[in-house]
Amino acid sequence: MDLSTTYMGLKLEHPLVASASPLTEKLDGFLRLEDGGASAIVMHSLFEEQVTLEEEMLDHYLHYGHESYAEALSYFPRAHEYRLTPERHLDLLARAKERVSIPLIASLNGISRGGWVEYAKLLEEAGADAIELNLYYIPTDPALSGAEVEAMYLETIQAVAESVRIPVAVKVGHAFSAFAHFAKRVEATGAKALVLFNRFYQPDLDLETLSVVPTLTLSRPYEALLRIHWIALLYGRVGLELALTGGVHSGKEAAKGLLAGAQVVMMTSAVLEKGPGHFRTVLEELKAFMEEREYASVEEMRGVMSYLKVAEPAALERANYLKVLGSYRLLP
Ligand SMILES: Cc1cc2nc3c(=O)[nH]c(=O)nc-3n(C[C@H](O)[C@H](O)[C@H](O)COP(=O)(O)O)c2cc1C
Repeated sequence: MDLSTTYMGLKLEHPLVASASPLTEKLDGFLRLEDGGASAIVMHSLFEEQVTLEEEMLDHYLHYGHESYAEALSYFPRAHEYRLTPERHLDLLARAKERVSIPLIASLNGISRGGWVEYAKLLEEAGADAIELNLYYIPTDPALSGAEVEAMYLETIQAVAESVRIPVAVKVGHAFSAFAHFAKRVEATGAKALVLFNRFYQPDLDLETLSVVPTLTLSRPYEALLRIHWIALLYGRVGLELALTGGVHSGKEAAKGLLAGAQVVMMTSAVLEKGPGHFRTVLEELKAFMEEREYASVEEMRGVMSYLKVAEPAALERANYLKVLGSYRLLP
């Protein structure tokens, strides 16, 4: 059985990749992920604020924010609370690259125009095999249109893609009004892959103290369905490789992702819960599924359940919507 695949031109032993997580904050974490069976590792993000706070220029907030600069700055954890300074981040990446033999993908998190190109180049120099641009921005300003937000994203992606030789992937959330169109425009920037989707973290409200409580709950498998759906819709319709992140906990989600058309499937929550060795468990489950269904390779199963052969995906979506609502049975 041939489990091998490529991702943005990188050769991988199989399609199960470690997505960005705190496990890569120390060298030991990279080694544990490789030992556990990950076929590639995405390092945790180098955050825009790590870079720009140091330089005291949050140009995004100056250009687009309606809060004052000083107030906006006060929202961020103080610099020393950040996990790593850019220099330490780059140094850790370089040391990890020397020690592991699987591909290492660096991650940049930001949306502003300034600074990114420079840091992308430094990550490339430090030895990254590819870069994932983690674009996480909640447009709260009613004056800012979707088109403007997309234009900001695309400018950043294009600037980075044009300035490095290594391939660039783009990780975004799902809140776009026309995601397929956005994906098509990402393709035109020179990026090679789209990573679907960033989770939208939702803080809770504490009713005792009337305060906002940041909560980070790990994902559950049902979250994979949104990603699988979009991967199936986009497969073959955009010239980007598609990576699934979010809700992959077992071989089942991995198999569904590949059948929908994912090039690779990524895991963080399941690995934080069960340890890096969970990669091998999921790989065994995926192999068992492939054996049962007589798939000889990952290549052979990829996209088999995509929408590629559906002439009118929007009409099918509409029909499925009606069908799913109609399928609910009221209790007698
Ligand atoms: C504690 C924690 C830290 C994370 N750090 C990053 C990060 O630095 N950059 C990033 O792009 N994603 C980060 N993520 C998101 C994961 O890479 C992943 O996309 C997300 O958790 C969904 O996948 P999962 O269901 O397998 O957890 C983080 C997730 C968790 C739980």
